Amino acid sequence: MPTAPPPVLLIPQVLLEATLQRQAGAEPLQRQLHRRLQQAILAGRLAPGSRLPGSRALAEGLGVSRNTVIAAYEQLSAEGYLQPDRQGTRVAALARPAAATARGRRGGEEGLAPDQPALAQGLAQRLAHIQPTGAGTLFGLPLRPGVPALSHFPLAAWRRALDRAITQAGPAALAYGEPLGEPALRAAVARHLSVARGVRCSPEQVVITEGAQEALSLCARLLSNPGDRAWVENPGYRGAKAALRAADLTLHPLPVDREGLCATEQDWALHPPRLIYVTPSHQYPTGAVLSAARRLQLMEQARRHGCWLIEDDYDSEFRHAGESIGALQGLVPQAPVLYVGTFSKTLFPSLRLGFLVLPEALLPGLQGPLGELLRGGQRHSQLALAQFMESGEFARHLGRMRRLYRSRQSALRSALQQHLAVPHQIEGGQCGLHLCVRFGPRWPDQAVAEQARQQGMAPSALSGFALPPGPADNGLVLGYGNTSSELFAPLIQRLSRLMQAL
Ligand SMILES: Cc1ncc(COP(=O)(O)O)c(C=O)c1O
Repeated sequence: MPTAPPPVLLIPQVLLEATLQRQAGAEPLQRQLHRRLQQAILAGRLAPGSRLPGSRALAEGLGVSRNTVIAAYEQLSAEGYLQPDRQGTRVAALARPAAATARGRRGGEEGLAPDQPALAQGLAQRLAHIQPTGAGTLFGLPLRPGVPALSHFPLAAWRRALDRAITQAGPAALAYGEPLGEPALRAAVARHLSVARGVRCSPEQVVITEGAQEALSLCARLLSNPGDRAWVENPGYRGAKAALRAADLTLHPLPVDREGLCATEQDWALHPPRLIYVTPSHQYPTGAVLSAARRLQLMEQARRHGCWLIEDDYDSEFRHAGESIGALQGLVPQAPVLYVGTFSKTLFPSLRLGFLVLPEALLPGLQGPLGELLRGGQRHSQLALAQFMESGEFARHLGRMRRLYRSRQSALRSALQQHLAVPHQIEGGQCGLHLCVRFGPRWPDQAVAEQARQQGMAPSALSGFALPPGPADNGLVLGYGNTSSELFAPLIQRLSRLMQAL
């Protein structure tokens, strides 16, 4: 039996309906026609196998030049949407994604993105409850936590270090580097950590990462299985929770008091973890320091239960009071600790360089997988940073910044004492770039933070770090790193006024 000829469309109705824009500045007609045809094919309004009118007929029908139609047909043929044959041009047989049809019919759009419910799967679903912080837009505002003094960064010295690295390493360093990082930087980081933080490590244990965030993700992905339990501090760092959740871990929040993370015998017995995330030297955001007794207990229990501690030592270089507190990792030999650090506070966040120190025992098992997962990029920056550290420029910068942050913190403290007219309690401040201020529920912190943003300040609401927030988690995390001392008095006066008006 002869097969029926495919339907012949003289001028597809869909094209006649589509008005081409002809005003000055409009997209070229050929591109408009190309897109209309492409969308009609993807949405199924031009069926596979259907024959298109000849270029002359379509040009007349649409009132465009024949060349315009020929060029659009040629491009669609080159892209595989049309198939020219001896009798003319047909629509190619394409496997269209089902979502395109549904969406096209419903909304009149022919996009190929899956519908929203399909998006809320996997990683997106695990992170869906997290409220956006608008972080990018807020970094420049005063009182934003975690931002170092950007205008005090020695850009000229950094440019010289970059110039030197580019001149010395040349185009060869444009290729992929060692996956675990430039050897010169790994060596400089190992030296710095052993002197400044008491970390026990060789350069081989150091992995250069894209900030602490990548280091946290690597720890979670390499050392746990989906569904495992991870302990986190409550309140605690959102970035760590996101990394652990993204690895499909179940978070078990543990309270934090003046001695840092509180883990009871019951927690160990009933909810044993695979990973424990801690900020022992300066708990984020409360500023507590994990006491020596708890450090030893935590390590002993971790060893007994075969789990790993992830120590995030994000801002300890800026110690303002008392003796320097050594890293947990260096407290005992062969500690069950993965040590994470960053240059986001010591230098600047957009550098996106941080590091992970692997326990010696994990080296043989992890070097191979890390070699597969990482690519070794930002080589000129890594080499410049190695020189910056080796030349003493890094240590000088840290010294200058420590003095600056100390004076900024003291200006913020006196502004709070003099001008914050609601009962409050200041916590932390032995280290770093922020203070934590708690106040009563009469002033809900999310509302205070929102009002503050409207008035050009970006403190963070303490409750945003809690899981879930309790009545005591009401307050503000105030950054002083990137705010000049003389601004604190007027800023805190403004904050006080808006709180009183709530
Ligand atoms: C607790 C904590 N860890 C780590 C970081 C730094 O992360 P990254 O190196 O990814 O910029 C921050 C930054 O705010 C932080 O607050």
